[in-house]
Amino acid sequence: MLKLPGLIDPHVHVREPGATHKEDWDTATQAALSGGVTTILAMPNTKPPIFDEATLNLALDAAKAKARCDYGQYVGAGPDNSDIAASLAPKAAGLKMYLDSTFGELRLDDMTLWTPHFQKFPKSAPMVMHSESRTLAAAILFSAIYDHPIHIAHVSLKEEILLIKAAKEKGIQVTCEVCPHHLFLSKEDIPAISHGHPGRGEVRPRLATKEDVHSLWANLDVIDCFATDHAPHTLEEKDGENPPPGFPGLETMLPLLLTAADDGRLAIDHIVQKLYTNPKRIFNLSEQQETWVEVDENATYEIKASETFTRCGWTPFEGWKVKGKVSRVVLRGKTAFEGGKVLAEMGSGRNVRG
Ligand code: NCD
Ligand code: ZN
Repeated sequence: MLKLPGLIDPHVHVREPGATHKEDWDTATQAALSGGVTTILAMPNTKPPIFDEATLNLALDAAKAKARCDYGQYVGAGPDNSDIAASLAPKAAGLKMYLDSTFGELRLDDMTLWTPHFQKFPKSAPMVMHSESRTLAAAILFSAIYDHPIHIAHVSLKEEILLIKAAKEKGIQVTCEVCPHHLFLSKEDIPAISHGHPGRGEVRPRLATKEDVHSLWANLDVIDCFATDHAPHTLEEKDGENPPPGFPGLETMLPLLLTAADDGRLAIDHIVQKLYTNPKRIFNLSEQQETWVEVDENATYEIKASETFTRCGWTPFEGWKVKGKVSRVVLRGKTAFEGGKVLAEMGSGRNVRG
């Protein structure tokens, strides 16, 4: 039996408020626990988006009533909420800035809209960027100019990981996360994921080339965190017109990483560092007392969407054979997950900023 700390996923789309047919605070936190994750930080691109005190309370009230693991809620950076967002920093997981096109309404197209957030959001509070390619270069420059630490979400390209490496070497305060789907899938896998429905292969950032994937593995030491970017949409939506981008990931991240560890592609220490030690520091999280994850390292099984807790009903990793299964999760001294069942009660999760 392998014992891991309770894992932290700093990038989860819970979908509540507004799209609970995809997921809600109950199902998202069940999915988290079954994947060995005891803390999730929820993204603000909900309906309505989380951008002021009233909308933040909407999400936090739902979380308080339903969450079965610990949680935080990001506030989104909008075109004119820099004062409000800064004032909410103590209650929020951090500030999320959408600088590139994605699912939802929060987007800061114009660079002049970035400045007030960089000036006003507290330097000690996490600022997370959706910034791809050249936008990433711009975000890093803002970080250097305004002397504000930033965390780059879902790095997927070779040019991005190399730029972050160079920025770190220069002493710029930049950290980053990489998602399992960008480590285990390339654009060449899209036909196999799609089953004739191209929408199933849609995710932002897009699946990249094999060379990009290779560069992420070759620069594991530059990657501060793993994060799922758990972005559930139903199969009906994925297979319909205008398929929304996004993959679920909470339940497949740890088994995929454990399988890679078994194959010698990374060490268990990397998993602990990137899913516990580093996110705990970067996102200012306190220790969860008496909390751990028990893994049966030798259990092999096939990933099946029919056996998952997420409401979205599918996974891009359907049929993958993995080695390493979460057998039990203990959260604050209580068994929260065991033998395939979630035992933690609705509302037992705590707000990390509470
Ligand atoms: C995310 C979503 O569905 O909310 N989709 C995605 O493809 N990652 C949006 C996002 O993370 O940018
Ligand atoms: Zn996301």
